[in-house]
Amino acid sequence: MFNFDFTDIAIQVIYYLAAILFIFGLKQMSSPKTAAGGVQWAGVGMLLAILVTFLFPNIHNFILIIAAIVIGSVIAWVSGKKVPMTAMPEMIALYNGMGGGAAAAIAAVELFTLVTDSTQTLPMTTFVLAVGGALIGAVSFSGSLCAFIKLRDWLRKAIHFPMQQGVNIIALLAAIACGAAFYTYHTPILFIAFFGISLVYGILMTIPIGGADMPVVIALYNALTGLAVACEGFVLNNMAMIIAGTVVGASGTLLTQLMAKAMNRSISNILFSRFGATGVGEAVVGTMKSMEASDAAMMLNFVQKVVIIPGYGMAVAQAQQKVWELASMLLEKGIDVRFAIHPVAGRMPGHMNVLLAEAGVPYDYIADMSDINNDFASTDVVIVIGANDVVNPSARTDKSSPIYGMPILNADYAKQIFVIKRGKGAGYAGVENTLFYNDKTRMVYGDAKNVMTKMIQTLKEND
Ligand code: TAP
Repeated sequence: MFNFDFTDIAIQVIYYLAAILFIFGLKQMSSPKTAAGGVQWAGVGMLLAILVTFLFPNIHNFILIIAAIVIGSVIAWVSGKKVPMTAMPEMIALYNGMGGGAAAAIAAVELFTLVTDSTQTLPMTTFVLAVGGALIGAVSFSGSLCAFIKLRDWLRKAIHFPMQQGVNIIALLAAIACGAAFYTYHTPILFIAFFGISLVYGILMTIPIGGADMPVVIALYNALTGLAVACEGFVLNNMAMIIAGTVVGASGTLLTQLMAKAMNRSISNILFSRFGATGVGEAVVGTMKSMEASDAAMMLNFVQKVVIIPGYGMAVAQAQQKVWELASMLLEKGIDVRFAIHPVAGRMPGHMNVLLAEAGVPYDYIADMSDINNDFASTDVVIVIGANDVVNPSARTDKSSPIYGMPILNADYAKQIFVIKRGKGAGYAGVENTLFYNDKTRMVYGDAKNVMTKMIQTLKEND
């Protein structure tokens, strides 16, 4: 006679359903058109994965679970509603850290039973996965929190000290050694040393990395969190964790590679060299020439092809609606207008795409760097709105610049360039931009939204 455990079957079916929803949601997130729906599908999957916990027969601490769900949901809801788009990267770093921390905490609970109960043992494979997941999760937790602090500008500088690489390698080996020794000696000291050193290693790994590399590092920690969750999924025999962790690990790895490619860096180079942390670039000679917003607008009456390059400053000014209003007016005049998006413009992957989508810019007008970079030479006017590093030509030529080697949008190849920014403020990498000193460039000083408003007004008055 077969003896079916219907509760167990229900749990496994719901976990599979949750995993399918995660994968479907992630697929939807790959296009800006369907991304919002994708987030909701994945959210439903997560809700199912949480609720199924209540079906486990051996779980009794419901009050604690419900309290954790309520507190977590309220904090996430309030912070999610309040966070401005410009602070989204640090929010992602924080949430990612929580994922890594949760995976490490699961492993800590499993491993701690070995300390408290001397009769307990774990099969070798389970032990290796638990320790491996704990190490990766702890590193991702403390590393992501460190990235959060850096992105918040609470720690802007990259920190270096003598023999840094050597110290980092010793810390990593020490964490692995403590974890391995714990297999034989289930002592509290080894347990604490293993987790303590793993957490410290996450910090040590992140502090020398410069600001310009931070997006890649966050994507890398995202991949590590996925891997840690998958490892702990094997330990707990939890299908949803294995599938979701693997999917996050794989997509995080792909994103890391794509972003590293966008900055023309290898991942090992980002982690172990000082890119983005040192160098100020060569001194720039020449002067910047300014122009009034109204004059810039008037000149747009006589052009055929315009490319708009948005950057972080457009996000700060929340100028995207006005930018699209100006672009629509130019389109109505029969001018060919397109938006050029650099993969690391702004402060998070897809930052500019999200803002432009929010303003209602149709996707057909938005071009990726690789698709538009050869068109600048035939462009009459490029309007750079709050972008700086992503259009800095010294990235091509100045070996002392921290952004040397990063592919840039070829704005300087256009016939005329208007740069809209508030003053002489540097970009994220903190270097001078030779584009601003180009004879073809005119600086239109002011907050991006105010300048857009003035340009629109001028175009309306002279229609
Ligand atoms: P940035 O190089 O950061 O330059 C932004 C410019 O906007 C500044 O020079 C600033 O000059 C101007 N600005 C600020 N507020 C403004 C406002 N209200 N109105 C008009 N202009 C304003 O931006 P970018 O070109 O987009 O490059 C992004 C940089 O961030 C890259 O170095 C990238 O590596 C880094 N980064 C990217 C990410 C991701 S994933 N996208 C994440 C972290 C870091 P003023 O002060 O003179 O106005």
